[in-house]
Amino acid sequence: MENVTSLVRPNIASLKPYSSARSEFTGENKILLDANENPFELWEMEKINRYPDPLQTNVKQIIAQIKGIKPEQLFIGNGSDEAVDLIIRCFCEPASDRIAIFEPTYGMYSVCATINNIGVEKYLLKDDFCIDADSFLNRVTKDVKVVFICNPNNPTGNSQKFGVIEQILSEINGLVVVDEAYIDFCSDKSVVSLVNRYPNLIVLQTFSKAWGLAGARIGLAIANRQIISILNRVKFPYNIGKPSLQILKNSLSNKALMEKFIAQITGERQNLYEQLKQFSFITMVYPSEANFLLVKTTNAQKIYTYLLDKNIVVRNRSHEPLCSNCLRITVGTPAENQILIETLKKLNL
Ligand SMILES: Cc1ncc(COP(=O)(O)O)c(C=O)c1O
Repeated sequence: MENVTSLVRPNIASLKPYSSARSEFTGENKILLDANENPFELWEMEKINRYPDPLQTNVKQIIAQIKGIKPEQLFIGNGSDEAVDLIIRCFCEPASDRIAIFEPTYGMYSVCATINNIGVEKYLLKDDFCIDADSFLNRVTKDVKVVFICNPNNPTGNSQKFGVIEQILSEINGLVVVDEAYIDFCSDKSVVSLVNRYPNLIVLQTFSKAWGLAGARIGLAIANRQIISILNRVKFPYNIGKPSLQILKNSLSNKALMEKFIAQITGERQNLYEQLKQFSFITMVYPSEANFLLVKTTNAQKIYTYLLDKNIVVRNRSHEPLCSNCLRITVGTPAENQILIETLKKLNL
């Protein structure tokens, strides 16, 4: 894949992007009468009356250092969901181009495609939830502009082999988005190091999971600078608010806390795995490299309703391909996990 810019939709390639006031002047030592802001600083938070930096320059430098990439290879979105939507809008021509997904997987790829009138080619994972790359590459149509690989996959929790991702990257004539929302729970599986080798690779990561910032809505796209500059042209001018940026900066300065979360959650995941296996109505607990476990049961709906009645909410994934009678259970705090187990012990099925 030589020239990724040839994949951009023509109307996006010729788009004259909106030029926001704060992209021209960020405000250091200036009287700012350019953006129709309120001149009074009403809140204690620093300069909240002013629009934020549209390109989040400072924080990108910190993240780039952590990820071992250049700041220009980084897009920050309102959650990684924003990046999913933007990628589809920038590269897929409505009513003609398509995306490809491997089911079962995260639902937003299809939802964003459908909203934008982009067709979805669905390929089934194998019984072990791995991608059959040869079969996919034989069958995929030329209309597919973007392939989404969720790694580790939601809801199955497993990750794909490096070689499989590389095979798809090198043989497909389009973009490959590797969604690494759960990668902090198995960081050696990240393909970020491949962005310099494959111009058609976009890696998505998020601060919503291991970093504990789901409420702040901050996600990343990591790719070559041409792709990032296309996403930046199309995004809303001030897509990340100052409070979220401030929270992000605080978190980044305390990476050790995130590492502590990860150790605790993966430890709890192992406990939960062992304990869930012992119930007769749970026929399979799938191994997980994420912060949740997929379990196959004898009657998912009944267990789901029983738990809900006890104020415990899990996700019923039974309607997903390959997931009949499956529930997805997020790893909670030790106390929450204990309540879950004690509650299941009282279930007669
Ligand atoms: C695979 C996957 N990607 C992306 C997201 C959304 O992440 P964000 O909160 O960054 O939008 C989720 C959330 O559950 C997810 O499971």
